[in-house]
Amino acid sequence: MAKSAKHKKVETIGVLSSGGDAPGMNAAIRAVVRTALANGLKVKGIRRGYSGLLDEDIFEMDAKSVSDIIQRGGTMLFTARCPEFMTKEGQDKGAYICKKHGIDGMIVIGGDGSFQGARKLYERGINTIGVPGTIDLDIACTEYTIGFDTAVNTAMEAIDKVRDTSTSHERCSIIEVMGRHAGYIALWSGIATGAENILLPELYDNDEQAIIQNIIERKKVGKTHHIIINAEGVGDSYEMAKRVEEATGVETRATIIGHIQRGGSPTAKDRVYASAMGAKAVELLCAGKSNRVVAYKHGEFIDYDIEEALNMKKMPDEFLVNMAKKLSR
Ligand code: ADP
Ligand code: F6P
Repeated sequence: MAKSAKHKKVETIGVLSSGGDAPGMNAAIRAVVRTALANGLKVKGIRRGYSGLLDEDIFEMDAKSVSDIIQRGGTMLFTARCPEFMTKEGQDKGAYICKKHGIDGMIVIGGDGSFQGARKLYERGINTIGVPGTIDLDIACTEYTIGFDTAVNTAMEAIDKVRDTSTSHERCSIIEVMGRHAGYIALWSGIATGAENILLPELYDNDEQAIIQNIIERKKVGKTHHIIINAEGVGDSYEMAKRVEEATGVETRATIIGHIQRGGSPTAKDRVYASAMGAKAVELLCAGKSNRVVAYKHGEFIDYDIEEALNMKKMPDEFLVNMAKKLSR
């Protein structure tokens, strides 16, 4: 939809976080608030994503509202999933509430689902910019999403620890990392820890027999442990552990790292990139752009049309996937 006269020049920016939280979201919120203020704009924070918008949980933010948050995980604005906003009535109400509170530019920090919501607000006359925030890295238009770096480092540290005990007991360990539909955390944490098998939801062929064979062969050549990284979306790790132990005779344990991956103090990369993306979002609105998503590609912060971004597809890097297989001998 082309930008029309009903899209006003931005004077007041609203900011919300939506979907799963991700470390670095606070750095992005801080950058939005302070960049907006530096540009002479007003900022309103909206708590609990679209849910808070519909409940009018909206408050004015100043520079001090975002003090002491850059180093904190989670999101000071809270986050939520809001089924009501999937409906036309919810979206109409959301746009009406924005207008009622003078919000003419909205910055939505979240994943693809949240961007769908942003698009609906744009269609109702609110200028919108999406900022990619998800530990999953599963937003096709960008090589970076807020929180991925911290989540991978958290997973890596946890896997290193499991590996110590796995080696001492000469066991096989199946370690489940987050990513229901996306294997980026599994791929990166698996490469970083030298895992023997990395199972990605996008590519796993369900050939458990090949994994079993792999464990048996490596045991024969003297491997003292066998680490399998299982992305959440692939299947039940506890059940897999039982089957693997039975088939190989190698004692096998399953560990689910879980929501630890979503929290914690963000890495320097997540703080800096999230700050850049938050600032960029405000600059786009100031430049009269709308219905865009901030992205990072080939070393640059850029932006895409939301529709175009939502239609893009990506898969885990083939070179990394093949390399991981070769390095795990
Ligand atoms: P993410 O943003 O991380 O992909 P979700 O898919 O859970 O997370 O979406 C977050 C929220 O965005 C949803 O709870 C809903 O309020 C809103 N949303 C998702 N899809 C749509 C849609 N098609 N239209 C309007 N709003 C949507
Ligand atoms: O999208 C981030 C993510 O952590 C996924 O990796 C995971 O599948 C999902 O959220 C879990 O969501 P929740 O437990 O908050 O419902």
